[in-house]
Amino acid sequence: MLRKLYYLLPAKMRFVARRALFLPIDLWDSWTGKRADMVPPKGMIFTGSGDFVEQGKRLLELFKDIGGLQPDHRVLDIGSGIGRSALPLTSFLTDKGSYQGFDPIEKGIVWCKKNISSRYSNFKFDYIPLKNDLYRDDGASAANFKFPYADNSFDFVILTSVFSHMVSDEVQNYLKEIERVISPSGIVFSTFFILDKESTSRSERSSFKFLYPDGDHWLMDAKVISANVAYEKEILFEKIIASAQLKVDKFYPGFWSGLPKTSCKDFQDILILKKP
Ligand SMILES: C[S@@+](CC[C@H](N)C(=O)[O-])C[C@H]1O[C@@H](n2cnc3c(N)ncnc32)[C@H](O)[C@@H]1O
Repeated sequence: MLRKLYYLLPAKMRFVARRALFLPIDLWDSWTGKRADMVPPKGMIFTGSGDFVEQGKRLLELFKDIGGLQPDHRVLDIGSGIGRSALPLTSFLTDKGSYQGFDPIEKGIVWCKKNISSRYSNFKFDYIPLKNDLYRDDGASAANFKFPYADNSFDFVILTSVFSHMVSDEVQNYLKEIERVISPSGIVFSTFFILDKESTSRSERSSFKFLYPDGDHWLMDAKVISANVAYEKEILFEKIIASAQLKVDKFYPGFWSGLPKTSCKDFQDILILKKP
């Protein structure tokens, strides 16, 4: 219900509403000095709910444990938001490693440059104004965007809760670009909503429902296309991923579809992708 109301707001107003809702807590936190360094005020966190710092730490554990992230890796964080993954990575990556984030929301990039790049010179962030109707009304199409990075320039690519807000021609283009910019042994840590026999059979237990077919994907909201997007497993694995010359190395179903939390690594489904 709340989610539906949120989607009814114009994209810009979603940021304003969040800022206003958390203003009392944010004022209190800054007055008492409760907010830690490099952690944004709650009203600025447009990338989801929950404990920003704890979720970041948990993501780092997953990058290491199931992704094989190493301290000297060159990391590309696509849809870097407001630094949820970058923050814990500052104490994991060594000087030999590096971090590059990009995102279409300028506020997040400005925050990360000011608070993270200023302290860690190997952490860089690019603002790229791409269209995504959950976050902004204007911008260039992500379906033919060429990443501004050289071939073979990253070892580890992160997309947490990003492909779950992108439609199939955009995902297809991004996977091809990722294949281009990663090294031959590159690793892609990505999350999705994946529809298969198991997840759809549990759908009555889930508050996440994808009822609107739209080409190669399913939408949660017919009006806000990028609100949440799901993919049928066969189309995703055999058409979208395979045609980008990548393969699924590991698949961990998430608890969004009604699986017990304790048996899952994360809310969304995790795919580790590699070159064949
Ligand atoms: C749910 S947030 C997740 C942010 C971050 N990955 C995290 O886990 O904290 C989704 C992010 O994807 C970004 N995004 C949306 N469309 C994008 C696109 N075409 N390319 C890159 N990032 C995009 C949004 O601006 C937002 O920061």
